Amino acid sequence: SVAPMIAPSILSADFANLAAESAAVGPGRTAGDPGADWLHVDVMDAHFVPNLTLGLPVVESLLKATDIPLDCHLMIEDPGIWAPPYAEAGAYNVTFHAEATDDPTAVARDIRAAGAKAGLSIKPNTPLEPYLEILRDFDTLLVMSVEPGFGGQSFIAEVLEKVRTIRKVVDSGALNLIVEIDGGINADTIEQAAEAGVDCFVAGSAVYGATDPGKAVAGLRAQAAA
Ligand code: DX5
Ligand code: ZN
Repeated sequence: SVAPMIAPSILSADFANLAAESAAVGPGRTAGDPGADWLHVDVMDAHFVPNLTLGLPVVESLLKATDIPLDCHLMIEDPGIWAPPYAEAGAYNVTFHAEATDDPTAVARDIRAAGAKAGLSIKPNTPLEPYLEILRDFDTLLVMSVEPGFGGQSFIAEVLEKVRTIRKVVDSGALNLIVEIDGGINADTIEQAAEAGVDCFVAGSAVYGATDPGKAVAGLRAQAAA
């Protein structure tokens, strides 16, 4: 399998110091570890989820402040309208929720046309099967392992069944997709997620709640690779 990717979520970082918080997980912080592969940016609109975080202006500033590719996770309504501008701004990957639109394929096409990778996210209780057909239009599948909206929640291990299923499909060569997991990933849970076949691990509180966020990234990567 490929080397595990770690995507620290700035949801648990200090929003007044995002440049420094990005640098804290960047390259060269911990010997032997390349640093964060992606920086995970949780966009919440207080409608799709009961919480409000940040939007395009903050992402545009963050793009100037860091070289780490931005993995924007849009927990918002109307992604068809709001998602493509994140791609135009320069986000590396733009993920939106399957539950938020009737036409995920059209949204993915617009994101890709604007120059970014496209990601589809499914909430813990959303089945994978109805979306298998359209995943050829996506670059990443983000499996939520908590209900979206807040950091620091407990890992829902039942979603690993969906990870095992998509892992088999990808390994068969039928799809070329990065399998990403988000929610409750920490030293106690990352190994079971890795075993199920996750490629990219989002971690918020486990990274930014640590004394040394860079060291936490290295530790999680070592566990995922074991
Ligand atoms: C939750 C967000 C997550 C969050 C994860 O809705 O999508 O990215 O930051 O936080 P932890 O890792 O603390 O569960
Ligand atoms: Zn997220």
